[in-house]
Amino acid sequence: MASASSTAPGVTQTVTHGFAPLRAGQGISFLLRRLHSLTGILPVGAFLFEHILISNSTAISGPEAYARQVSFLANLPLVFFLELFGIWVPIAFHGLYGFYIWYRGDGNSVAYPWTGNWMYTAQRWTGGIAFAYIFWHVWTMRFTGVDLHASPMASFGKVQHEVFQTPLFLFYVAGLIAASWHFSYGIWLFSAKWGIVSGEKARKRFLALCLALFFVLTGAGLASLTSFRSRPQQPTEAGTAAMNHKSITESR
Ligand code: HEM
Repeated sequence: MASASSTAPGVTQTVTHGFAPLRAGQGISFLLRRLHSLTGILPVGAFLFEHILISNSTAISGPEAYARQVSFLANLPLVFFLELFGIWVPIAFHGLYGFYIWYRGDGNSVAYPWTGNWMYTAQRWTGGIAFAYIFWHVWTMRFTGVDLHASPMASFGKVQHEVFQTPLFLFYVAGLIAASWHFSYGIWLFSAKWGIVSGEKARKRFLALCLALFFVLTGAGLASLTSFRSRPQQPTEAGTAAMNHKSITESR
């Protein structure tokens, strides 16, 4: 779909059909657009995929399995730097530059009223919702309350404490749907922009595959959330967790 946001100031790019591919010759903004596009897949998208489909899905097997997964991640070598450069900095860059792209965009859904264009608009809104959710989620899970890296056994209870509150549960669901949609349709956008999938037919088929991924991610996320809500509240105190940490390492 056409977008004025994909060109640098002073560069005219006319697109009458489809959407704007990434083009060279736009100086630093070209590089930043490429980097924005790339970070959406690697590492941010890859992390989202792992976070929903692997790490959080272990909650379906219960509190102990979940604690083992949290403990495994917490004990990765140089974990703080992995988080900093593998997750937080790329998300901050992709998110903040995404807002900039949105701010510079021309809101062209009226001029080009086809489905793809609505999806393009949805890409901005789902990014915005995901940004608010991720900021809050990282703040509450990683930087406030009981430290789950030191007390992984408190993980299940800490999540439960939030999702048992209906407004927070709904925020989790909104964040999950927004991030899953944004990433799934983002893969399609990425593939089209970088020329990985070309031709109307191939793009249509690939879009169906990306929509299937959206349902898989949302379904897996909802299944994990249901597991948290369907079990009795587990301990959330650091003391209990510290005592139980030994049993996690012993059960490995
Ligand atoms: C859950 C975290 C996120 C993931 C996994 C993710 C992933 C992606 C992917 C794969 C793309 C397609 C790349 C491309 O357009 O070439 C994309 C595009 C985009 N993202 Fe994100 N993103 C995330 C968060 C955000 C946030 C917080 C914002 C802030 C608004 C944002 C704004 C955008 C925008 C505006 C585009 C479209 C760029 C364009 O059309 O050229 N994203 N994202």
